[in-house]
This record gives sequence, C-alpha cells and structure tokens, in this order.
Amino acid sequence: MSAPHLSVLPRETIDVLAVRPDAVVVDGTLGYGGHTELLLQAGARVIGLDRDPRAIAAAQERLAQYGDRFRAVQANFRDIRQVLDDLGLAHVDGALVDLGVSSPQLDVAERGFSFRLAGPLDMRMGEDAPTLAEYLAGVDERELKRVISWFGEERFAGPVARAIKRELHRIADTVQLAEVVANAIPRGAWPKGIHPATRTFQALRIAVNDELGALDAWLQALPGVITPGGGRAAAISFHSLEDRAVKQGFTALAHPCRCPPGMPVCTCGAAEWKLVTRKAIAPSEEEIAANPRSRSAKLRAVERL
Ligand SMILES: C[S@@+](CC[C@H](N)C(=O)[O-])C[C@H]1O[C@@H](n2cnc3c(N)ncnc32)[C@H](O)[C@@H]1O
Repeated sequence: MSAPHLSVLPRETIDVLAVRPDAVVVDGTLGYGGHTELLLQAGARVIGLDRDPRAIAAAQERLAQYGDRFRAVQANFRDIRQVLDDLGLAHVDGALVDLGVSSPQLDVAERGFSFRLAGPLDMRMGEDAPTLAEYLAGVDERELKRVISWFGEERFAGPVARAIKRELHRIADTVQLAEVVANAIPRGAWPKGIHPATRTFQALRIAVNDELGALDAWLQALPGVITPGGGRAAAISFHSLEDRAVKQGFTALAHPCRCPPGMPVCTCGAAEWKLVTRKAIAPSEEEIAANPRSRSAKLRAVERL
C-alpha cells in the first residue's frame, strides 16, 4: 500500500527521538504509519496508538512485514499510561505525537471533516467522541462562540455561532454548514486563499475530539512513562494553542533549578529533564513545497536524564 498521507518533518522527528536499536517507542498518532515505519527502519520496536479503527487496520496491513517489532492498539494517546499497564510495560524509550487529522480522514466525505465534500455532521477521529451533530445540539451559543473564537481564531465567532445555532435544524451536511458559516461572515472580510469556513471547521474538530484535553493528559503522563537515562518525547503541532501547550509542558519538565544556593545536589527535579529543541523545528521550504500541509508544523522534543 502506498502512503496516502505524507509524514511531516520525517527525518527531523527520527533525529530528535535519537532512537537506539531495540528501543521501545510509542507512536501516539499512528495514522497510516509513516513515522512508525521510519522508527522501525531505525531499529526501534513501536507500539502505535490511534483512536481511528480505520487507521489501525491500514497501518497493520502496511507494516505487517515488521512482525512483532510493531504492535497497533486502538486507543487515545491520553491513556498512554493505561496502554502500557495493559502491555505490562513500566517505561518506554520514546513517545511521539503528530497532532491533528490525517489526509485520508480529511479526504473521505463520510467522515464529515470536509467543507468541500458533503458529508454527515460527524468529525470524530474515533468512536470515543460525540458526533458534530450531537456536539452542536448540546452546546449553547455562548460556549460555541468561545470555541470558534479560541480554537479557530475567527474574528466573527459571535455571528457564526449565532447563525449555526439558529440554522442547525435545517443543516443536513458539512457543505450546508460551511454555507451557513460563510454567510455569517461579511464577504469583504472573507480570508484570502482559504475557504471562509476553514477556521470554524478547525475549531469544531478540536472541540468535538477534545484535542487539547488529550494533549494535556499526554504531557502530564510523560514523567510516569519515559524511561530515565535518555528516554525522549517529541510532539509535532500545527496550531498555536497546541504548540503553546507543548512548549509549556516540556519547559515545565525541564525547568531551571529552584534549589537554594549551596545545595550539594539538586532536589527540585530540574536535573531530570532537558530540552532537546530550545526553538521549535520547522519544515524546510522544500518540504512545504512538496507537502503544503506541513506549512504550520512545529516539532519540539525533551529528554529524561
Ligand atoms: C497527522 S495523523 C498522523 C500521521 C502519522 N504520523 C504518519 O506519519 O502517517 C494523526 C493521526 O492521529 C490520530 N489521533 C489524533 N488524536 C489522537 C488521540 N488523542 N489519540 C489517538 N490518536 C489520535 C488521528 O486519528 C490520525 O490518524
């Protein structure tokens, strides 16, 4: 099977994880297995997690040749500790998340992510989330405005939220939803080069799948998951809120020493982690030209000492 999704920052991701032969790495966002295959080729054993059963099935087929060095588990990466408990593993040498949705999820109309292809109001990556229709029916206008403004950085979040709630009873698919959103934004203010519903659709996807909640839980889990003595964690984000959460989470682990002057050994935990990337790694111009989806990607990594 050829890869239907081009992996972002492929070489850089493998480099920052500094995989040693026989290292065990949890790829929390297996998708169609692009990064996982590179990790396997670098000699690692990989446990691949994905919420999406279709991604799990496709990756299992694609990576069958790696035998028992690869294992796929349908799970949310927020539950990484539970997954490792179920497999009888105390620690792993690496953990990776490549956030957001995959190209095949976006491109299949029936998944309901696309404003160009008419699909149901769904947007779930896996079955562990409400559908978009359920979410929109349950959320009040104020909260919807907050979500669209915060996760979508949409200036017209107020009118958009009001129009969605007002028209919801007659919105049958994603294209109709996109029309309602576009009509709520003054034509002169439509963004250049992207569909006027792009920001709102991004915000709704983040909310339906509780993407930032999952990322926070993964960051919190790292101290109980990554092996001391060189284990590493890496995250690729595509949105400023995600990157901020990753930056703060990694910096909180690798905080400067807070011990009083003169302490013979550090007892505040500062000596336990270090940032592998002081500044986020961004894709090269060549990568962006070959894979426009990589444009906003940022890669950060941290190491447990
Ligand atoms: C950007 S794609 C990953 C692509 C993959 N790294 C590759 O190179 O082929 C993101 C994948 O992560 C999954 N995903 C997103 N959030 C998740 C979560 N919280 N838990 C598990 N899987 C998640 C999505 O279903 C999707 O398949």
